[in-house]
Amino acid sequence: MSAIRTACEVSPCTAKLISLLVFSRIDHIGIAVADLDAAIAVHEGTYGMRVVHRETLEEQGVEAVLFDVGENHVELLRPLGDDTPVGRFLAKRGPGLHHVAYQVHDISAALSRLREDGVRMIDVAPRTGIRGSRVAFLHPTASGSVLTELVEPATVHR
Ligand code: CO
Repeated sequence: MSAIRTACEVSPCTAKLISLLVFSRIDHIGIAVADLDAAIAVHEGTYGMRVVHRETLEEQGVEAVLFDVGENHVELLRPLGDDTPVGRFLAKRGPGLHHVAYQVHDISAALSRLREDGVRMIDVAPRTGIRGSRVAFLHPTASGSVLTELVEPATVHR
């Protein structure tokens, strides 16, 4: 019996998710920080993670730092100003978990699939993300109030 058929018997919703194969794995979790150096010190010094990338993304209004955690990443985000999405997040909620990012093989196909299913999006088309990736955000109301990002990594970082 196939996995999909088994899942069908468990939950039609689960079966649908499996058959869609939109998300291949968690790519990273994004954490909003006010003090980037202090947060780096905790992740490097206390958690023993390694900084693998640091980049300012003017378009998204953040300075971002990536750490490897196995095959996944933690992304620290420091806002470039108060009037940016992460700046407003910090003012409203303080530092903490900002978003979850799922990796996809083909972000255009994933976006079409989600659109067909009526999923509410922030980005209707992919934009350039960290390390040359292509990214798009789902609206938090589409995913249990969790801001959700899709990431198609640049080929060299898959
Ligand atoms: Co992200």
